[in-house]
Amino acid sequence: MKITVKKGNALEQKTLCLVLGVFEGKYKEEQLLQLDQQVGGAFSRAIQSKEFAGRRGQFLLLHNGSQSLAERILLVGLGKEPAFSLRSLRQITSSTVKFLTEKQLGNFLLVLPQLPIKKTALDERIQVITEGILLADYRYDRYLPKVDAGRPVVVGHVDLLISTPENTATAKSAVAAAEAIVSGVCFARDLVNAPGNLKSPKYMAMQAVAMAEKVGIQANLLDRRELERQGFGAMLGVAQGSEQEPYLIVLKYQGGNEADKPIALVGKGVTFDAGGISLKPAEKMDEMKMDMGGAAAVLGTMQAAAKMKLPINLIAVVPAVENMPSGTAIRPGDILTSLSGKTIEVLNTDAEGRLILADALTYVGRYQPRVVIDLATLTGACIIALGNQAAAVLGNNDGLIRELLKAGERSGERFWQLPLWEEYTELIKSDFADVKNTGGRAAGTITAAAFLQQFADKYRWAHLDIAGMAWAEQGKAGQPKGGTGFAVRALIEYLRGQTK
Ligand code: BES
Ligand code: MN
Ligand code: ZN
Repeated sequence: MKITVKKGNALEQKTLCLVLGVFEGKYKEEQLLQLDQQVGGAFSRAIQSKEFAGRRGQFLLLHNGSQSLAERILLVGLGKEPAFSLRSLRQITSSTVKFLTEKQLGNFLLVLPQLPIKKTALDERIQVITEGILLADYRYDRYLPKVDAGRPVVVGHVDLLISTPENTATAKSAVAAAEAIVSGVCFARDLVNAPGNLKSPKYMAMQAVAMAEKVGIQANLLDRRELERQGFGAMLGVAQGSEQEPYLIVLKYQGGNEADKPIALVGKGVTFDAGGISLKPAEKMDEMKMDMGGAAAVLGTMQAAAKMKLPINLIAVVPAVENMPSGTAIRPGDILTSLSGKTIEVLNTDAEGRLILADALTYVGRYQPRVVIDLATLTGACIIALGNQAAAVLGNNDGLIRELLKAGERSGERFWQLPLWEEYTELIKSDFADVKNTGGRAAGTITAAAFLQQFADKYRWAHLDIAGMAWAEQGKAGQPKGGTGFAVRALIEYLRGQTK
């Protein structure tokens, strides 16, 4: 697949399909009048007959008028102009690419970069469009037949047409950035989509090491013996019910100065969450192969950041374990001694994410991080609160949270803040240990964060609960069922902001 930047008159381009946006009610633009002539009045007839009105989600595919250089012209409805945003552009791009590839059209030219959107720069529009194209093309087909005639064609060559006064170099570097980001998103999606029988903690570790070698970042693995030696009691407690060996994955990217303190990313890597002895119900348990969505986002972000050569230092820490019920599994009531020395009463073995994160958050303190951001598919309560539209953000530093909210808004991957007032900490006090691992039904996302906070007290810290975002239920526009790679784009946006 290749995406190139071009300049010139839209109506003089040789292409399999020219793609033009049309705002609802704005049919008399100069370009559209000329186009109507080229196609012998087919456009105005479609408007008159109300077959096409430029409403959001409408398409009109016209075949070549005699003088046209484009073999086809696809008109894409954009809706009302004042309501058109960068978010609309993102959505329009992916639904357009889906429409084209389903029609077996893999080569086309988009005039979409020229659409007017208030307060957006060329590089933002190009990035959004490139991401939209590349992500609409994603599928996880490792276990599917290699040839399938019914499947949409893959994208081949796409031209992005920018207008004459705009800067080609700016557009080209935005394409390159988007390609690096998408490679990170797709790496994350592949990891999430991998089934639990393939995706052991060891598999996660091997994937991380292979990725690190490819993009030139350091990788280090802590195996069970090393974790025992150092006292990762909470993480090992979760791992002890599984036949699969746990690993702590540590990646180090040095894009900044030697002396610069790193930004640390920590990702929950539960490769399958059966719940342990507090076994989950059978319905939808298959989806719990996505319980390493936080880890996937962290690894995808590391890959993208390294490919983009961001001038910044990063540490990634991923505790990878499987949560299974067995004769060796931890029981409700067990007390674990964490790496920090704090003791944890395990009331519910299904609240395992916070246990492995407790040790990972303690461990990452050794790197004297500037800030620590953890990502986790941590609580079902987060899905009850925010559904599938936003991840929850909580933490101990409002400046950091504000920056994350901004990056989320700009990248289209939304976060929403929940409070972490000290009163919530009462709910995780234990009679038998320093803390307990559940706080009851009320405010489940917040009490989970309050638990993590006990282990993140030595640095500026934010927690992203991505439970509702790491997995897409069924195909939304450009998003097939399965792993989403959520937060890679937002984290890269945040990291780019830190380099300025
Ligand atoms: N991985 C789950 C949370 C989850 C649920 C993520 C659904 C995505 C979709 C987590 O380990 C869990 O089981 N949390 C429990 C905590 C409870 C026992 C305190 C939950 O949310 O029910
Ligand atoms: Mn669980
Ligand atoms: Zn879990």
